[in-house]
Amino acid sequence: MVTYKVPVIAGDGIGPEVIAEGKKVLEVVAEMDGFNIEWIEYPFGAENYLSTGELISEDAPEELKNYKSIYLGALGDPRVEPGILELGILLKLRFYFDEYVNLRPVKLYEGVPTPLKNKKPSDIQFTVIRENTEDFYIGLGSNIKKGKSKHKLDLIRDIYHIRFGLDIDSDADEIAYQLGVISREGARRVIEYAFNYAKSHGKSKVTGVDKANVLTYVYGLWRRVFNEVAKNYSNIKSEFAFVDATAMWFVKNPEWYEVLVTPNLFGDILTDLGAMIQGGLGVAPGGNINPKGTSMFEPIHGSAPKYKGMNKVNPVATILAGCLLLEDLGLEKSANKVEKATEEILREGKVKTYDLGGNSKTSEVGDAIAKKVKELTI
Ligand code: IPM
Ligand code: MN
Repeated sequence: MVTYKVPVIAGDGIGPEVIAEGKKVLEVVAEMDGFNIEWIEYPFGAENYLSTGELISEDAPEELKNYKSIYLGALGDPRVEPGILELGILLKLRFYFDEYVNLRPVKLYEGVPTPLKNKKPSDIQFTVIRENTEDFYIGLGSNIKKGKSKHKLDLIRDIYHIRFGLDIDSDADEIAYQLGVISREGARRVIEYAFNYAKSHGKSKVTGVDKANVLTYVYGLWRRVFNEVAKNYSNIKSEFAFVDATAMWFVKNPEWYEVLVTPNLFGDILTDLGAMIQGGLGVAPGGNINPKGTSMFEPIHGSAPKYKGMNKVNPVATILAGCLLLEDLGLEKSANKVEKATEEILREGKVKTYDLGGNSKTSEVGDAIAKKVKELTI
């Protein structure tokens, strides 16, 4: 029997609870389809950071590189300053493994309420492919004239204070800047991925999102590359859309979209909106993908610390992230089974968590989906 070794970073808050359900469902499908999954647990997250001072152990990235797909819960904890865990673990791994594709399917399943009036499942079925390693996420920038450092402004302030008894607030002069970078190759590879994705998933159109009317340098390049790549796919229509207009159309006419490809930051924002129209963060999965390397699959929601340990939140996003993970391992048939089972449970609507208007527990949803996987005849 084949054994797939899958590293797991359950993480913080509700991460461990939703990951437990994802593992449960994946183990059931593995048993049915005749393969094994061996989970390799990594403790990274707040608890580990607070007790060891380490975000990721030194050897971990090299070690994780030996695996194809990682299963990730959520990161973030109120005891740790915002950004430390997110940047030090999640973004660190996205960059380390060069996971340049962030795949975020937006799909409204039957039985799941959408806040959009008069929209039905067939209207909300598209995929956002978010660039995942460039743009404003590269962390290049600085604060100038900040805080207590002795620079010219501080001296002036001291002089004013001593000579004239006047206090001036040098922080008022503070400046911050941060650079967004798009590289030709970085744009090409993700845009090409989007067109290939459209082709292999029977989609007929790719929308390139940008803001080339204002951020002319970075997104001007993005747009030129989009055009160049589009030329190689004569059977797939292509169009541009500005990000602000795209946000409007997600609400007004989501049925317009099939596949969208977007720079990193716009994709981050648009996919939270996407998650809302597909029924909320509880049902929205994502994949950080390096097609030739190590990828990482996670629910797109955060660690929701206030619900930690309550067995209350929706595990569906994590279970669907598990489907993406199975696909990444080349186990399409099993992925399809897990999606079908999830879809049925959502449609039946008998077992659902609070966010979908029910009162089932996290583990009950996992149990119901696992049971459904067993009953499926596909
Ligand atoms: C996401 C998250 C992350 C991001 C944060 C937690 C760093 O919002 O996966 O969408 O901005 O990419
Ligand atoms: Mn986000």
